[in-house]
Amino acid sequence: MNKKRVAVLISGRGSNMMALIEAAKAKDYPAEIVLVLSNRPDAAGLTRAQDAGIATVAIDHRPFGEDREAFEHALDDELRRHRVDLVCLAGFMRLLTSWFIGRWRGRLLNIHPALLPQFKGLHTHRRALEGGAKRHGATVHFVVEESDSGPIIRQESVPVLDDDTEETLAARVLSIEHRIYPEALRMVAEGHARFAPGT
Ligand code: GAR
Repeated sequence: MNKKRVAVLISGRGSNMMALIEAAKAKDYPAEIVLVLSNRPDAAGLTRAQDAGIATVAIDHRPFGEDREAFEHALDDELRRHRVDLVCLAGFMRLLTSWFIGRWRGRLLNIHPALLPQFKGLHTHRRALEGGAKRHGATVHFVVEESDSGPIIRQESVPVLDDDTEETLAARVLSIEHRIYPEALRMVAEGHARFAPGT
């Protein structure tokens, strides 16, 4: 099988990254994780990826200051050096410029902890609770210039319970994130989900 070469971009603990690494161990999985890249050298996920035998690179965004594109050129160089076909953002907390997004259009996936188009941006669980939502969830989508938008690949919901706190709701959502991200990556790697602008 001609497996797609995938890079996972992280900023933190990397539990979604681990779910992708675990899924990709299956013989019939159409993608392999060839690189984990973080903009934070101290991201806990980097150690977890190394322990799993995956190549890791840290590119600290801070020395680049305001020059987001220069940071992204460094990112892009690494992705090309590792002959990456698809990029999965997994808790990667940097906004990307239209230069980078355009370069990887249709090959750049993100997971967001909400039922998009609801609750774009940060603190989604708190906002779902404050807004009295009855259901909440997670979405995997292709990345476009407008953040937390773009064609949806996979989405699943969970109930919001009366006694939920931000933490209990986040944990319930996270458990479905770990399932739908590998499913969505499979769909893209097999060509069953394609980028179609405006969908
Ligand atoms: C996940 O819940 C992911 O959906 C979210 O950050 C968390 C990362 O956790 N992403 C965003 O909020 C992106 N806007 P992880 O590092 O354990 O995968």
